[in-house]
Amino acid sequence: AADGATAVAHPNIALIKYWGKRDERLHLPWTSSLSMTLDIFPTTTSVRLDAEAADDEVTFNGSPASGEERRRIAAFLDLVRRRSRLTHRAVVDTRNTVPTGAGLASSAGGFAALAVAAAAAYGLGLDDAGLSRLARRGSGSASRSIFGGFAVWHAGTPTAPPAEADLSSYAEPVVAGDLDPALVIAVVNAGPKEVSSRAAMRRTVETSPLFEPWAASSRDDLTEMRAALLRADLDAVGEIAERNALGMHATMLGARPAVRYLSPATLTVLDSVLELRRDGVSAYATMDAGPNVKVLCRRTDAERVAEAVRAAAAGGGTVHIAGPGQGARLVD
Ligand code: DP6
Repeated sequence: AADGATAVAHPNIALIKYWGKRDERLHLPWTSSLSMTLDIFPTTTSVRLDAEAADDEVTFNGSPASGEERRRIAAFLDLVRRRSRLTHRAVVDTRNTVPTGAGLASSAGGFAALAVAAAAAYGLGLDDAGLSRLARRGSGSASRSIFGGFAVWHAGTPTAPPAEADLSSYAEPVVAGDLDPALVIAVVNAGPKEVSSRAAMRRTVETSPLFEPWAASSRDDLTEMRAALLRADLDAVGEIAERNALGMHATMLGARPAVRYLSPATLTVLDSVLELRRDGVSAYATMDAGPNVKVLCRRTDAERVAEAVRAAAAGGGTVHIAGPGQGARLVD
């Protein structure tokens, strides 16, 4: 094992969503998902082994991590230690550039960077699929941020015995034609604190009568999405992504009690996306566990799209433009 390692990783936005775990401990999903890794908001994480320390020391943007965040990172390091057979505690320093309040989950880039840095520091010798499986244990969506561009995370065979199920679920790059896509991220006012995605997923799976039909249609969406990416058909990619995301939100609205992340400002932005389409611009929306809207469009249309959604999200909206980014990697 090296004494320490530093890695950088980026967030990803799912075009075919991951929503619902079949195994909560191993983070095995009900369905496969597909995403684009972004070229903005990197997380840089260093992991240094400390033979003397009695406990892990975790710093997040310069301040000691606490609570649930610290607990999740320590649990992840325990997993790495069990595999490495080293017992050393670690000093973890994470720097995350996602603007606070942007409501963009930082867990994908965060756990992808942590997985790559910790695997190197503890000498696990993993290939990309192994890193993806490991990152998955931190946060499901992190499995996809190991790769740049488009990545598919295989649900695998979650009904198999645990060791086999674990091996079967990892992400890998998706072959895509020349799309030149952009994702315009409209940050709308967040309002009151939402339900965590973890809790919302669980409630959806346990109580929503809409969950199973969505999961079934999501499997078909993935097949169609792969074909659309291969032929670089941005309109088809956008249409499939938009219906998949709206369907995911429908499963949440069907949960008991309902989980609703979409706010009035979300709907206003969705209207502006429809209007862009009426004006002949290829623009399609996707939303995650929050009120923000991510609009898929051609890179050449990104400024125009950004302008339209910025105007729609009037009163506190910020807009970011992202392109396809690189996978997680070690840096000096
Ligand atoms: C709506 O990966 O954050 O963004 O596995 O519990 O950590 P955990 O969940 P997480 O869920 C992401 C859900 C989503 C859709 C997606 O990214 O596919």
